[in-house]
Amino acid sequence: MTGASGVLGTAVVPRLERDGHEVRGTSRRPRPGWVRADLVTGDGVAEAVAGVDAVVHLASATRYRRIAEIDVGGTRRLVTAAAAAGVRHVVYISIVGIDRIPFPYYRHKLAAEKVVQAGPVPWSILRATQFPQLVDNRFLPPVSRLGVIVADPAITAQLVDPRDVADRLAALVTSGPSREVEEYGGPEVQSSVEIVRTWLQATGKRRPVLSLRLPGRTAKAMRTGALTTTAEPTGTRTWRDYLAERYAPVRDSQA
Ligand SMILES: NC(=O)c1ccc[n+]([C@@H]2O[C@H](COP(=O)([O-])OP(=O)(O)OC[C@H]3O[C@@H](n4cnc5c(N)ncnc54)[C@H](OP(=O)(O)O)[C@@H]3O)[C@@H](O)[C@H]2O)c1
Repeated sequence: MTGASGVLGTAVVPRLERDGHEVRGTSRRPRPGWVRADLVTGDGVAEAVAGVDAVVHLASATRYRRIAEIDVGGTRRLVTAAAAAGVRHVVYISIVGIDRIPFPYYRHKLAAEKVVQAGPVPWSILRATQFPQLVDNRFLPPVSRLGVIVADPAITAQLVDPRDVADRLAALVTSGPSREVEEYGGPEVQSSVEIVRTWLQATGKRRPVLSLRLPGRTAKAMRTGALTTTAEPTGTRTWRDYLAERYAPVRDSQA
């Protein structure tokens, strides 16, 4: 499994092990029991896929650096190595809306999907919506440092818990290659203003929230609901559930 050390990988590894799979995690850093592999240099990739039945490919340039090399070139390198090793199934995680939102990272995810689809190994692709950790750890902290948080009330999101995504990925691994792109979202569609307000409440931060129609093509696409999906089933864990799990113990202990 690539990306085993990441937010999603951390949920997927134990989930697959619970199903009785023997999981071989990969990372660019040495970790006991894992294979050290780098999708950009190709080091360790052949070793990572040798003798495995299925490759679950979660690695990505989520810091938005070297996206083409990691996501597109890296996926090509992985799929080629998997084919040479006789792997029977590649399961790739993608993102809802990558075909509708003109965001450079998304363009590369779409190109990576095409690499998987055109490759010789039978495949399944799961497009998930955003994880709560992305909003909580990556988007909102820098935005909140500006004092006022600007949010477009017409932009909606459908945050999905990585543990729910892990369940879906585990089902795909078990059922075998579908050669389909499936979408998967969380249980609630919420406006970005609501997401911000709930976060402020949970973290105890006090910031004014300014509702504003954001300019640009990316925001315009997001206003059409491109970050959400009508696909069923959905995950079950909500944004509030995540926040309660993450912050309630901290806030209680401060009370
Ligand atoms: N975050 C979201 O909201 C969201 C939503 C839908 C789909 N997704 C997709 O889910 C996947 C996982 O996202 P995440 O948030 O869990 O990511 P993450 O926590 O940022 O982890 C990224 C992973 O990519 C690996 N990686 C990066 N560069 C690599 C390279 N050159 N070679 C090998 N591995 C490399 C890292 O492994 P090491 O550092 O250990 O080498 C790490 O495990 C991504 O494909 C992402 O597009 C994310």
